[in-house]
Amino acid sequence: MCGIVGAAAERNVVGILLEGLQRLEYRGYDSAGLTVMNADQHIKRYRAVGKVQALKDTCHAAAPVGTIGIAHTRWATHGKPTQNNAHPHLSCEAVSLVHNGIIENHEALRQELTEQGYHFESETDTEVMAHLIHHLVAACGDFRQGVSEALTRLEGAYAIAVQHRDFPDRLIGARQGSPLVVGLGIGENFIASDPQALRPVTDRFIYLEEGELVELTRSEVSIFGGRETSVASRAVTLDSRDDAADKGAFRHFMLKEIYEQPKAIRNTLQGRIGKTTILSQAFGVEAGLLFEQAESVQIVACGTSYYSGLVARYWVEALTGLTCQVEIASEWRYRTVAVAPNTLFMTLSQSGETADTLAALRQSKSLGYLGSLCICNVPNSSLVRESDLSLMTEAGTEIGVASTKAFTTQLADLLMFAMALGKYHGLTPELESELVQALHDLPMRLEETLEINEQVKAWAEQFTNKDHALFLGRGLHYPIAMEGALKLKEISYIHAEGYPAGELKHGPLALVDEQMPVVCVAPTDELLEKVKSNLQEVAARGGALYVFTDHQADFSDFSDTQVIILPPLHPMVAPIAILFCRCNCSPTMGKRSDVLLEI
Ligand code: M6R
Repeated sequence: MCGIVGAAAERNVVGILLEGLQRLEYRGYDSAGLTVMNADQHIKRYRAVGKVQALKDTCHAAAPVGTIGIAHTRWATHGKPTQNNAHPHLSCEAVSLVHNGIIENHEALRQELTEQGYHFESETDTEVMAHLIHHLVAACGDFRQGVSEALTRLEGAYAIAVQHRDFPDRLIGARQGSPLVVGLGIGENFIASDPQALRPVTDRFIYLEEGELVELTRSEVSIFGGRETSVASRAVTLDSRDDAADKGAFRHFMLKEIYEQPKAIRNTLQGRIGKTTILSQAFGVEAGLLFEQAESVQIVACGTSYYSGLVARYWVEALTGLTCQVEIASEWRYRTVAVAPNTLFMTLSQSGETADTLAALRQSKSLGYLGSLCICNVPNSSLVRESDLSLMTEAGTEIGVASTKAFTTQLADLLMFAMALGKYHGLTPELESELVQALHDLPMRLEETLEINEQVKAWAEQFTNKDHALFLGRGLHYPIAMEGALKLKEISYIHAEGYPAGELKHGPLALVDEQMPVVCVAPTDELLEKVKSNLQEVAARGGALYVFTDHQADFSDFSDTQVIILPPLHPMVAPIAILFCRCNCSPTMGKRSDVLLEI
């Protein structure tokens, strides 16, 4: 994912820009660059492929000085990760622009601008914006007006920061579909795609709304195109605890965040469960009415958040008797959906800025849903701001690109949601109290689970030379198997698939042999015997089995099978702890993992 930083100050901003980029490294990127306006009013550009350190080295050698500038980390979408494709993109040495997102009509614009005499030096969709802004500013003589006109020509998603040689004291930023914040300093102002980038220079931020444009100098910030409220009244002050960009003694952020899970779950449960009951008020004042009226639930999300939605379907249907459908946001938003009466629309997202999920929420508003509820980890995100109800995951900032604590806290929220909804739809006080007790025990169980770390590491070693792996589960644990496979793919670059264990015999069993490790989630529940017979099929084909289970289950008659015993867990709560230990195994597994893990 790309990152943006911009600064207008009285001091040299190069250090601020580089530090900002370094703090955005966790998002993943392949090249970086910056421009600053020097004392002679020339825009100076520096770019490097690879780490921000490479850009730092370049800047160190050139020692640029400038009091206004923009910077970017690029994750290639159009064109390879080369220096020419790295941002900022320039137009006629006068305009410099950085961009997050994708411009869908870039080809048509490129043709139009080429016909007007503009020369393109990159393969990106971004460069068209630099030329378009140059063209329109030249036509009207006004920086902001030119940028505004350019934005009306764009189709797609963007957050941009742009500077212009002829307007040397200001930066312009705008967002549509990608986040952008303004950082307010004393005698200096900033812009970034994520407040983390600016934590060393300010703790006061304004989150731009969709469609807004900001014009900032070192002494002034003006916002256009949105709510008619004063800039000062929109500023929020972030707590110092929100600065998570320090990995402490851990080798990488993902590992740190794995170890933060017991605390994150504790924080997520806090104030939401009483001794024996779930506190529905935690979902907001209108929650009671919505939950009472709800006759079905539609969940929409992407990636890991989609998998947590799939677990929630089991909980919602079992605890409320209401239908619960779950769909990937990028599919849901592009089809004609039939909405059953009184359906509650739910989105799940760590960031609250995922474009497809956000677009789905917006689309849902005209489709007659009962109301919208989001479960999210970022309080000021677009998803939270635009949903009727929201429930935070209290995981703290998740720096690692691979979700860990955000997922497990999402699951905790979702179980609480299913219980809160269940209270209006037949959940008995006895079952409610039993589940609340299981939730109270959960942080402690997760701490115990951390103790299997060495066993998990030993398993991980055995995966090092494998090219494929199969993850199996049934019922509540099928989505957990899919999430496990996603984690392995994402972190180690080993191909992995998650499958419902009962489906194995309908095709994928053909792939199983001595070279195919098969990981299975098999705690004691009503499906355990069925899972065991599925695993016998794997054993018969010589597949090496790795089973997560508990003391009550017996796998002693399985050949070539390794077992990790988890602490005793309530069957309904088990997916949260099992995923937790699955996350644990990923960071040490991969032969190709270092690329990601050193970030
Ligand atoms: O921020 P979101 O939860 O909306 O992000 C959706 C996915 O991109 C995300 O869950 C992704 O699949 C995970 N980070 C992978 O570990």
